[in-house]
Amino acid sequence: TSHSGQNITYHASAITRTERSRLRNQSGLTIWLTGLSASGKSTIAVELEHHLLSKRGVAAYRLDGDNIRFGLNKDLGFSEKDRNENIRRIAEVAKLFADSASVAITSFISPYRADRDTARKLHQEDGGGGGLPFVEVFVDVPVEVAERRDPKGLYKKAREGVIKEFTGISAPYEAPLAPEVHIRNHEVSVQQAVAQIIAYLDEKNYLP
Ligand code: PPS
Repeated sequence: TSHSGQNITYHASAITRTERSRLRNQSGLTIWLTGLSASGKSTIAVELEHHLLSKRGVAAYRLDGDNIRFGLNKDLGFSEKDRNENIRRIAEVAKLFADSASVAITSFISPYRADRDTARKLHQEDGGGGGLPFVEVFVDVPVEVAERRDPKGLYKKAREGVIKEFTGISAPYEAPLAPEVHIRNHEVSVQQAVAQIIAYLDEKNYLP
């Protein structure tokens, strides 16, 4: 491998992914929420995590700004390059959760299609037993709606030029072309949004 010169080798796990899933009575996957700031990603993620844990007995865990941008990725800002790296690391971490037979729920803007596609490939083409499911959920609200909500006053600051490269105002958001789930979030309640995601997971038989 490319690391062979550094004397790093992979240690094969004693347990296969299939065996781990059987023993834990659930299989892992990643639910990848994407959408503008203030589109409602975090609200949906919180409700979805709670629903999976309390109603379905499924180990689910959220990755979001609070535990990633203040920790693992605290060295990263909002330039295109930093966002690429932010999403690359999050995809790797989500894949580890999914590999451990948990449901990873990520809620990041993840504005670049190529980054989301790389995250998808990382899961679907992962060795150990036919790949890991990757469910892309587009949390869709018109930018005018997000700007009107503006819970943190960031859109206002972006308009004033105080914040540069703000998604939807002065930096791009590349909407998904074929997301597994498309939530028109200005038209539905959070419960309806969660139900839409659960219906997809059940249709695919991803949950126990
Ligand atoms: S990204 O694009 O996926 O790397 O962004 P993410 O890690 O999800 O972080 C988005 C939150 O950071 C705040 N913030 C900004 N967002 C967009 N553009 C710029 N320039 C920016 N600066 C700070 C903002 O509060 C986002 O929070 P959410 O929860 O999405 O509203």
